[in-house]
Amino acid sequence: MSDRKPKLTRRAFTLSASLAGVAAKTGLLTASAEAATSASAQVEMSGPAPAPVRLNVNGVERALAIEPRVTLLDALRERLGLTGTKKGCDQGQCGACTVLVDGRRINSCLTLAIAAQGKAVTTIEGVAHGDQLHPVQAAFIEYDAFQCGYCTPGQIMSAVGLLAEHRALDDSAIREQMSGNICRCGAYPNIVDAVRAAGNA
Ligand code: FES
Ligand code: FES
Repeated sequence: MSDRKPKLTRRAFTLSASLAGVAAKTGLLTASAEAATSASAQVEMSGPAPAPVRLNVNGVERALAIEPRVTLLDALRERLGLTGTKKGCDQGQCGACTVLVDGRRINSCLTLAIAAQGKAVTTIEGVAHGDQLHPVQAAFIEYDAFQCGYCTPGQIMSAVGLLAEHRALDDSAIREQMSGNICRCGAYPNIVDAVRAAGNA
């Protein structure tokens, strides 16, 4: 009978080392997950409770209960279901979230919903009259002033605002006044054509 001990092959060694590593890691992960769960159980929720907020959106009074930190953009999209207003950068750089407040163009991602109380908020859903498109909407279609369309509601709201302010004096003024609205598809030439045409309509 041979008294030789069984050989530890390279394959067996590698397998046992891997299993040991997995076990150690699993133990660590389980321990950290338990610690995190117990820590979060001890954290008391704090912050302002939802407050009653009344918004006049597209001529309709809407009552909400939202935390004071909620932006107008999130209130429109997430609470009122008005998803025509788009969230692009969420930090005031792209203009996708442009709406009118008392006729002025604003970035709704930088405006708290509570700050819009008592004012008239107009979104892209509110510019047409029934089946009758706003002249800016009609011009955007006629001049093919969009590609993917993501920036388009903000572009249209910005154009509606600047035309109401009588600022579309020439192409240069239109470009300047629309410079806060970024179009990643680069539809700028057609957008300028559409705004000019709507201004002349
Ligand atoms: S989403 Fe508001 S400016 Fe970009
Ligand atoms: S049409 Fe695509 S981002 Fe402007």
